Amino acid sequence: MDERGSQPEPGKLTAFDIRARKGGPKLSMLSLYDFPFARIAAEAGLDIILVGDSLGMVIQGHDSTVPVTLDDVVYHSKAVRRGAPKTHIVADLPFLTYHIDSGRAVENAGRLMQEGNADSVKLEGGEEVAERIAALTRAGIPVMGHIGLTPQSAGALGGLTVQGRDIASARKILADALAVTEAGAFAMVVEIVPTELAEAITASVAVPTIGIGAGPFCDGQVLLAHDMLGLQERIIGRFAKVYAEIGDDIRKAFVTFGNDVRSGAFPDEGQSYPMAPDVVAQIRERQT
Ligand code: KIV
Repeated sequence: MDERGSQPEPGKLTAFDIRARKGGPKLSMLSLYDFPFARIAAEAGLDIILVGDSLGMVIQGHDSTVPVTLDDVVYHSKAVRRGAPKTHIVADLPFLTYHIDSGRAVENAGRLMQEGNADSVKLEGGEEVAERIAALTRAGIPVMGHIGLTPQSAGALGGLTVQGRDIASARKILADALAVTEAGAFAMVVEIVPTELAEAITASVAVPTIGIGAGPFCDGQVLLAHDMLGLQERIIGRFAKVYAEIGDDIRKAFVTFGNDVRSGAFPDEGQSYPMAPDVVAQIRERQT
């Protein structure tokens, strides 16, 4: 039985299992948003899929995550679940879906789990959201924290830039990490902070840290699937290692398709369905 009283799928990591990976084998997580990517990630044996509100930029073409709605995340989470029935799915609580009060935070997180079929939720912030994390945890909703650069408040943080470089902001992020852990989060994303700060956070908290642009010492790593596949026109930082240039392949395929259609090279016999000669003869007879 898991912490919600239901039977976890065999092979699927629960929030409890993920928490227990602190200091153990490193956790791999990708942000992705649809059925085919989820199926491939599950086949590849990745530990966690994040249905991130980065979908606002990656899928919807916005400049930030702010326009993303709860319905958007529910929609994408459902599709991801169909592709990865046995992978732990974390769904992002979008902008202003957990800030107003704890009741609404629980209701909204509940939708991500009941309608979106997510296993846990993620929210951004440190000390200021500790009470929300505690309320969700009390309601039996596993919460992943997210500290350092928090894209929903990028405007207030001065853009998507490295956080925690000076002593005051480094201390604040360390305090955030402790508050998030104390409030009951089972793990936390640490985004775009100096390597040494992420190392200090990882050594200070009892739950796994999952880094993005936070150096090699975190307990796990997360990237956006579209970044690491070369599918993004604009990548926000050098931390996003590109593992394949699928975007170039897609562009070449689209250009070739257009050319083939124009030249008549597509479709040929291999992509067409022949008719029995006697039926063809009858059709032609009627035409004449
Ligand atoms: O929305 C997202 O994909 C995220 C990652 C950057 C961790 O929060």
